[in-house]
Amino acid sequence: MKKAWWKESIVYQIYPRSFCDSNGDGIGDLNGITSKLDYLKELGINVIWLSPVYQSPNDDNGYDISNYEAIMTEFGTMEDYDRMLEAAHQRGIKIVMDLVVNHTSDEHPWFVESRSSKDNDKRDYYIWKDGKDGKEPNNWGSCFSGSAWQFDDKTQQYYLHLFSKKQPDLNWANPRVRKEVFDMMTRWCDKGIDGFRMDVISLISKPEGYPDSEVYGGTYGTSNICANGPKVHDYLKEMNQTVLSKYDIMTVGECAGVTLEEAQRYANNEQSELNMVFQFEHVGLDDGDGFKWSTKKMPLVPLKENLTKWQKGLDGVAWNSLYFCNHDQPRIVSRLGNDSDAYREISAKCIGTCLHMMQGTPYVYQGEELGMTNSVFNSVDDFNDLESINAYHELTEAGFFTPQELLPAIAHKSRDNARTPMQWDESANAGFTTGKPWLAVNPNYTKVNAKDQLAREDSVFHYYQKLIALRKQYEIIVYGHYDLLLAEDPDLYVYTRTLGEQKLLVVCNFSENERSYDFGAFAEGKVLIQNYKDSSFKEGNLKPYEAVVVLL
Ligand code: GLC
Ligand code: CA
Repeated sequence: MKKAWWKESIVYQIYPRSFCDSNGDGIGDLNGITSKLDYLKELGINVIWLSPVYQSPNDDNGYDISNYEAIMTEFGTMEDYDRMLEAAHQRGIKIVMDLVVNHTSDEHPWFVESRSSKDNDKRDYYIWKDGKDGKEPNNWGSCFSGSAWQFDDKTQQYYLHLFSKKQPDLNWANPRVRKEVFDMMTRWCDKGIDGFRMDVISLISKPEGYPDSEVYGGTYGTSNICANGPKVHDYLKEMNQTVLSKYDIMTVGECAGVTLEEAQRYANNEQSELNMVFQFEHVGLDDGDGFKWSTKKMPLVPLKENLTKWQKGLDGVAWNSLYFCNHDQPRIVSRLGNDSDAYREISAKCIGTCLHMMQGTPYVYQGEELGMTNSVFNSVDDFNDLESINAYHELTEAGFFTPQELLPAIAHKSRDNARTPMQWDESANAGFTTGKPWLAVNPNYTKVNAKDQLAREDSVFHYYQKLIALRKQYEIIVYGHYDLLLAEDPDLYVYTRTLGEQKLLVVCNFSENERSYDFGAFAEGKVLIQNYKDSSFKEGNLKPYEAVVVLL
């Protein structure tokens, strides 16, 4: 297999709004990030993926961009950005920028012009259509509730927005749009950034004829009909030739609706498109019926089956990204592990072991290295995220759920679970800000925080530090082939990695039960990491949430 620095890297995602506030306005900022680079260096990661820091009216917290080449006022200035980039580079940490180009903000000058008249020069930068029988052009729903079409009085046409109505979709079929985007990317690359995470990039090519789509839950058709559209690979190849191939950068495409076959194309070994993609199948396994809203636990057997499909399916053909957490996902300890005081830390370590020993590039989302958990939301007023708030209103008003049913499900799956401020210490507001945080801190910060964990050798932080160090030390963890054992076992996730003569065994007990497992010859192997000090795995006993990694 061809080696590459981005295959051997460990990425840490920062959601700037919630990471560290340097000036007491309650909002995280760039100077806050710079002040924590030593913390990240100590953790051992070598790439930061920065969620959007560009100018934005913040309808979707920065994923609605009104100027791709200016910094959001609340986050600081371009000088702050340059200082952060340099300070990161000095520490051997690369910076990957979020690239949100399926859509812009409706406040972006391109859209302001586009909507101004039908014959405006930028009209075709976006997707405008006439209504059909006095209604929307088709049945597509927005990912954030309601129709994906917004009628604009001024010109009596509808524009497409797969996300909020303040996020109109760019028209990638227009070569001028592609050129604008590629030029903008080139300017960022010339500034010295190290890569792009591409927001919903699988959605940029819309299906021909804009047909109605299937309705899975609720009133509207799925926007997934836009996933992996007819021209998406052409557009990415063009982007690759025009920009990406000219720089030594890493790219990861957020690919809603991606299948294994499609991922093999996006992230192909010839590198004609992207380095890797984020797929979503595994984080959808605890969805409800037709909706993501549910309090269901993530089921282990289907999870093993799914991750194994991706591990085997991309091996030698493309490259995997490894993640459980990001700014759109509730906290994994609360979904797959156990966030009670008794098991929070041990299950967080078990989950980390399981993910970090796989083939691919691992992503750690801020706070995951502390075992941060879901937060507490008692009423719809406690949420900030528009996805949660809109879904609550739409689905209760249309009678799909009662408020009593829906509130716990949204509290469990809301993106706000990932967005509560980073828990730095046990002081007021978890040391995130001296002001009033933009989103309430998780009340468990006095128990779960970085200061405590840095001081404690057996903490989740130090365990992640070790997982990260191991990947740098052992090639087999990066490049080895993966094979699943015990596919049907409801408690144990067991797999091997193989590289030449070497073999690694990874055993994770995802249950509160003691379990037995015969390690065979591996009982005499070299233990690379384990989450219990008093383990008796050699005798075939596994404790609740025990994880062991052995090299032969
Ligand atoms: C991606 C982002 C999400 C955002 C959406 C629209 O899924 O991760 O946070 O809301 O795209 O940009
Ligand atoms: Ca601030």
